[in-house]
Amino acid sequence: MIRFEHRNLLANPYLKTAIPSSRLVDFAGMVKSAREEILSDRKADILGFYDLPEQDTTRITDFVAALDPKFENMVVLGIGGSALGNKALYNALKTEARLKRKVYVYDNVDPVYLHEILSELDLGKTVFNVVTKSGTTAETMSGYMIVLDILKRKFPGDYQKRMIITTDKEKGFLRQVVKTEGFASFVVPDNVGGRFSVLTDVGLLSSAFAGIDIKALLKGAAGMREISETKDITQNPPLLNGLLHFLYMREGKNISVMMPYSNSLYDFADWYRQLWAESLGKRYDLSGREIYVGQTPVKALGTTDQHSQIQLYTQGPNDKVITFLTVEKWNHDYVIPNIHPERGEVNYLGGKKLSQLLNAERLATEYALCKAHRPNANLIFPEINAENLGAAIMMYEIQTVFTGKLLNINPLDQPGVEDGKIATYALMGKAGFDKERKEIEAYQNQ
Ligand code: PA5
Repeated sequence: MIRFEHRNLLANPYLKTAIPSSRLVDFAGMVKSAREEILSDRKADILGFYDLPEQDTTRITDFVAALDPKFENMVVLGIGGSALGNKALYNALKTEARLKRKVYVYDNVDPVYLHEILSELDLGKTVFNVVTKSGTTAETMSGYMIVLDILKRKFPGDYQKRMIITTDKEKGFLRQVVKTEGFASFVVPDNVGGRFSVLTDVGLLSSAFAGIDIKALLKGAAGMREISETKDITQNPPLLNGLLHFLYMREGKNISVMMPYSNSLYDFADWYRQLWAESLGKRYDLSGREIYVGQTPVKALGTTDQHSQIQLYTQGPNDKVITFLTVEKWNHDYVIPNIHPERGEVNYLGGKKLSQLLNAERLATEYALCKAHRPNANLIFPEINAENLGAAIMMYEIQTVFTGKLLNINPLDQPGVEDGKIATYALMGKAGFDKERKEIEAYQNQ
């Protein structure tokens, strides 16, 4: 199980200016109310991600087992919550879990990027999975139409077998397409929001296709959910981390950096970026008061960004809370050969493992941050495996909802995304958006 080290989020002899542990007691009442609100939301069935560990996954494993073995690649067409979890899981595990089949995620509307994916792959060995809860997202729908057109022309006899649709159970245009075209389909549950949906069919199908142990993912998530019930908040990573981030936000630390010391976990930081930004960045509180809250999530990569960001993090504005992701055991490693034993510049490295250097650099960065009075935490993965990733996913989902409760905002909506979507519809000529189109034309011609 992953472990959360929070000692440098609280005042200690090395970090005297951090939040004192007595503050945790001061906020016990707020914590209790937030927990009660979560319980009542769960009863009202609006936090469906909590219950995902119990789902029956045979629909997915049976489907993958029955899939034509010629399919070596899956391309996910989706964006935001319908894409980032797929990327995070596949890229975390593709090497350490020695995955056999490949997953690509096309989550933009970039023609060169689409061309790169389509030209790199043997389309005869590729299945496409269109993932969109709403079934209306322009980015995903444009990709879907381009790809389906290609498939229909290239494989007129069996193009239906080369596309899967993952969307709402009943609603939306794509559900109708499933019925008329006869595509295989999966479901994004009503009670799970996009960015909380990685442990639904949204993320489980591509994971199972690649060979990830999806039962282990859910087991890890269940384990973390159990830990999140712990009364003592210091033993409850999602709630403790949420409370401390909330308290640091109140002190003006408006940036949350996630810094994995592992390339494999870099996309996990991207998944977190969406979860934290879209859930907590809100103009209004629940009573309609303007509050403009949120904490800007930033991702950085250790050690790479030690040579890019750490100067800023240690000596620039003290406005960040930094979380390291550390891996203890690596399935792939190198011993650095001592090929220049006579040279002091490099012989100290000889005979050491690459992972030892990596983790020493992480600790060195942690120490430097403490000396510079910068709060930081460490989420430790004993190894990168499905169970630990499932636990980390559940930890951050619970932490996000809990922090939303402390902030008195709705962490499940994203009204700020709507204006841009509507303007795009108007600019692209969607029916019913004439008024908006005229407004944008006036803006352009000013
Ligand atoms: O978290 C969310 O709800 C969003 O990020 C969505 O996942 C994203 O906008 C994609 O939406 P959809 O799955 O409807 O295409």
